[in-house]
Amino acid sequence: MKDSSNGMSGIEAVTGRHSIRNFLPDPVPEKVIRSILAEAARAPSGTNTQPWLVHVVTDAARDRLSQAVLAAARAGDVNEEYKYAPDTWREPYLARRRKVGFDLYALYGIDRHDMAGRQRAMLRNFEFFGAPAGLFFTMERSLLHGSWLDMGMFMQNVMILARLHGLETCAQQAWCNYGHVVRRELGIGDEYILISGMSLGHPNPEAPENTLISERAPVEQFTTFHSA
Ligand SMILES: Cc1cc2nc3c(=O)[nH]c(=O)nc-3n(C[C@H](O)[C@H](O)[C@H](O)COP(=O)(O)O)c2cc1C
Repeated sequence: MKDSSNGMSGIEAVTGRHSIRNFLPDPVPEKVIRSILAEAARAPSGTNTQPWLVHVVTDAARDRLSQAVLAAARAGDVNEEYKYAPDTWREPYLARRRKVGFDLYALYGIDRHDMAGRQRAMLRNFEFFGAPAGLFFTMERSLLHGSWLDMGMFMQNVMILARLHGLETCAQQAWCNYGHVVRRELGIGDEYILISGMSLGHPNPEAPENTLISERAPVEQFTTFHSA
């Protein structure tokens, strides 16, 4: 396969990735999306089951979906596709969530107590943050935990490969709050589950929100080495 990575190292492709929440309208050719998906499909999966089923939206399909989900969100027509999070977050997760959220609001220029401003920022998810392309990752609903692992690996491949093709992404679980609308608009049957959405495009280099580099715990905090 031809290498189109423009000299970006694998380490830079991984460590330089961060979520982009403001994209330029410049289109992404379908050919490039096809390449990213073909390369991403080299992801491992348990016994090579390859559970991923992807829906790509661009142009009129993208705009239609955006309008439908924005309307549902404004009407409060929420219907969680699956339970992503525990009812109560404990530490250290709570503090990490707060930190990234408050850092993002600060870059948006939104006061953390401005609930209407926070809601407006959240709704940008459903405009794909301005990106011309959206990806929706689904699989058969009957599949279990193992296939969720496989889906995560596939999605990560897509995010890294996008960078190697000169593009950026934001994984978006937010769409799953309106999974029923996404599935209805894209003609996806109930036997499939929407696992995540993802915006794909060229980052706006002038957007403050794109400068957010979230923190990570050091290796010694999350790793135990066993040797003796
Ligand atoms: C499965 C998944 C779902 C996510 N959903 C959203 C989302 O709906 N909206 C959003 O703005 N960011 C979303 N994110 C991005 C995370 O907030 C982000 O990855 C995290 O804060 C770390 O920041 P980084 O991606 O810039 O390194 C999601 C990330 C993952 C992995």
